Amino acid sequence: MRIEKQHMKPSDSPIGAAPFTRRSFLKSTSAAAGGAALLSTLAPERFALGASPGDTLKVALVGCGGRGSGAADQALRTEGGTKLVAVADAFKDRLDGSLKALKQNHADKVQVPEENQFVGFDGYKKAIALADVVILATPPGFRPMMFEEAIRQGKHVFMEKPVAVDGPGVRKVLAAAEEAKRKNLKVGVGLQRHHQTGYIETIKRIHAGEIGDIVSMRCYWNGSTPWVRPRKELAAKLGRPPTEMEYQMHNWYYFVWLCGDHIAEQHIHNLDVMNWVKQAPPVRCVGMGGCEVRKGQDYGEIFDHHAVEFEYADGTRMFSQCRHILNCWNNVSEHVVGTKGSCDVSGHIIRGEKPWRFRSDAANRPKDPYQQEHDDLFDAIRRDKPFNEAVYGATSSLTAVMGRMATYSGKVIDYDAALNSSIDTMPKNLAWDAMPLVKPGPDGMYPRAVPGKTEVL
Ligand SMILES: NC(=O)c1ccc[n+]([C@@H]2O[C@H](COP(=O)([O-])OP(=O)(O)OC[C@H]3O[C@@H](n4cnc5c(N)ncnc54)[C@H](O)[C@@H]3O)[C@@H](O)[C@H]2O)c1
Repeated sequence: MRIEKQHMKPSDSPIGAAPFTRRSFLKSTSAAAGGAALLSTLAPERFALGASPGDTLKVALVGCGGRGSGAADQALRTEGGTKLVAVADAFKDRLDGSLKALKQNHADKVQVPEENQFVGFDGYKKAIALADVVILATPPGFRPMMFEEAIRQGKHVFMEKPVAVDGPGVRKVLAAAEEAKRKNLKVGVGLQRHHQTGYIETIKRIHAGEIGDIVSMRCYWNGSTPWVRPRKELAAKLGRPPTEMEYQMHNWYYFVWLCGDHIAEQHIHNLDVMNWVKQAPPVRCVGMGGCEVRKGQDYGEIFDHHAVEFEYADGTRMFSQCRHILNCWNNVSEHVVGTKGSCDVSGHIIRGEKPWRFRSDAANRPKDPYQQEHDDLFDAIRRDKPFNEAVYGATSSLTAVMGRMATYSGKVIDYDAALNSSIDTMPKNLAWDAMPLVKPGPDGMYPRAVPGKTEVL
């Protein structure tokens, strides 16, 4: 069981952060072992709403893949008592693999009896019911309904990005975010650059006017292509052909209802940084994209490249590219040009009238932002600090979704139109024998969007 996103390459990691690997997981375990002594045994009924610094927080993990397992590990390393009490996954082998790895590293904090291990589509509700804090790390298509349920049940949440893959999903998340505020529930979103010192310091300087007024921005996630699980491989594992739902769930990356396309699944990190710089999402966009190289029955319906021009309310343009094609120029970064200078945001460098560069040394090395985001969330829960990242998580998710709508349709897409879109990509029936809305044609190929023809609103 690898405790990280299978397709993650070094360039996928935030700048300056070591990628979280099984080896680093094991290495840091001994340091964390002493934390077990901090476990307290206070009565569970004190949670989820109010927690004191010394209390033990019960954690549930929903979506036991690479990132979910990493996030659970990080939650169990936060200061104070924590224990994993429930897990849920669509597939038993993923759940088993994750629990095994987590137990190796947190024998004392992983207390998940068999009756608290839930397999299938509905297990999340039961896992959520057992926890104070819920980690939602399934493919993002499920995030809105799971976040809504967690807030309905009064639980604090850490949810991975993106938080939705379409307009109806974003609306659901925004409504649940309001409900979370009313219930004083804390919500963290896995856009970890917001917890990365280099980014925080750099963007603080842009906001202070150190490069003047913003003229233009650009950002990229041009990289490699993710895993694929061919039908034949799944059939060999199952001893029968997979149902269409099983196939798509195993290959979630390639389907919009599950993944949102890679502009949403990965490039959201960069788009979100641009929105952070502008302190608002864009108002409209236009774009081009397609599937030029990654073709064939195994590659679902998504594009392999998107290039989008976003426009903010003051007219500032932001140029974005994301690509999944091998042997091309790879780059994951964000840049801003101002009237008095320019900023390599991801490199944490300012050039121009007030040159500056973020520096850290061994004595002052910022924490891995994946750990820092959990430290910050759990601290907010324990000390009742305001903490709700769901709104910018949702607006940045919608930024990516409107970019996809622009490349799929070839049309101008307004933010409000994308938000109010009635096209819901989620199948009405979630069951292994139910048919998702998108299905392969007689040639085994999935239909792809055709700019100029495809309607997205
Ligand atoms: N913040 C980051 O840098 C970062 C890095 C990697 C992944 N992620 C995000 O984390 C999420 C998961 O990615 P991953 O790489 O761990 O994928 P993964 O495929 O390794 O894990 C997803 C898990 O969810 C399970 N699952 C699917 N549908 C489910 C359902 N309805 N109920 C319960 N479990 C279900 C799958 O079986 C699988 O075990 C994605 O949203 C991804 O974008 C974020």
